[in-house]
Amino acid sequence: MTELLSKEVKAEIDRWLKKYPEDQKRSALLPALRFTQEANDNWLSEDLVKAVAEYLDQPHIAAFEVATFYHMYNLKPVGRYQLNVCGSISCKLCDCKGIVDHLKQKLDINVGDTTKDGKFTLKEVGCLAACVNAPMMQINKDYHENLTPERVDSILETLE
Ligand code: FES
Repeated sequence: MTELLSKEVKAEIDRWLKKYPEDQKRSALLPALRFTQEANDNWLSEDLVKAVAEYLDQPHIAAFEVATFYHMYNLKPVGRYQLNVCGSISCKLCDCKGIVDHLKQKLDINVGDTTKDGKFTLKEVGCLAACVNAPMMQINKDYHENLTPERVDSILETLE
């Protein structure tokens, strides 16, 4: 199944494998899944997860344990923009629920869903280490902090 991984993805994985002892290939699961996801419109099919496991000489279950545990892996297709609203304690105390409710209403989707035009996917995620500026969300790789519903609206307006 490793033929599903592109030459570029394999090269990235190989680069990371050099950071770990020969018999610790499992340590490269997180970056390997990340590169694979980024090369596949930001989501991982079951076959791709298996391909990563096989490339690292690991049982399939080892890769599925990682892919299903961390929120940054998407196991179904996602929109062009992923709105990851932090739902952990600092953000909770600063009304992240209000931000999520605002996004649900504005985009007419529930958490975990993608808008019909394929533009936005809404997720609630664990702490993203920007607690001091709660509430916050990550849009693809960018952080947006000190959110209010009005600020969320102006951020979304800047996204094509
Ligand atoms: S609790 Fe939200 S970023 Fe840490």
